[in-house]
Amino acid sequence: MKSLSRALPLLLCLLANGVAAADALEVTVRRSFPGASDEERRTRLDQDEVQALCSKHRNRPPADVAARIVESQLQTIRYPEDGKLLGDWRAGEKLASIGTGGHIGRIQPDPADRKKGGNCYACHTLAKKEVAAGNLGPSLTGIGTVRGNGPEAVRYTYQKIFNAQAFFPCSSMPRFGHSGWLTPQEIADAVAFLLDPESPVNKD
Ligand code: HEC
Repeated sequence: MKSLSRALPLLLCLLANGVAAADALEVTVRRSFPGASDEERRTRLDQDEVQALCSKHRNRPPADVAARIVESQLQTIRYPEDGKLLGDWRAGEKLASIGTGGHIGRIQPDPADRKKGGNCYACHTLAKKEVAAGNLGPSLTGIGTVRGNGPEAVRYTYQKIFNAQAFFPCSSMPRFGHSGWLTPQEIADAVAFLLDPESPVNKD
């Protein structure tokens, strides 16, 4: 009992420090974007429910939370009006390599109409000719050759790009469609870039 009463203040102190550290991080992130508008703060700096859950569980949610995330994120997926999930691979190719747009804050904000791309090469190898590629995500070179472009492969790839967390809770891949970063048509173009046999992703 005696040792517990000695340990308790220390435990409380550690707990309070943990909470304070999380708050301090939140404050630092907000202070880093002093010029952000209220709308930018709401959409870019405030965590939504899934992000808050992933932070809370340090991106390793327990099974019940993970299942809840997958279910809720599947519900967010929207499709192009014409129903075509396989778009134009050439448009997708451009989109995949555009890494600009969407900077907020005071230092170098982007104009709202600056083209926003997928920046896929930041995390994935895709067409072999592009050598500047990151490896946070798996290589997608030849993905169309391996998986084909049948309805199931197309649908999965579309859904995955629209909302990566519909399959992998707390994935570090951005939820491109869910966040409104890419339109459904642009996502269909990215699907074609990955799966079309004519795309450089599937050529030597
Ligand atoms: C910030 C890093 C990041 C960016 C940017 C990114 N991804 Fe990903 N992606 C990942 C990670 C990490 C995974 C593996 C975990 C997962 O499945 O969510 C992944 C997985 C995938 C998968 C699933 C692969 C499989 O084997 O089923 C596809 C498809 C994909 N990404 C396509 C894209 C496309 C297309 C873009 C650009 C529009 C893109 N990614 C941008 C990080 C990223």
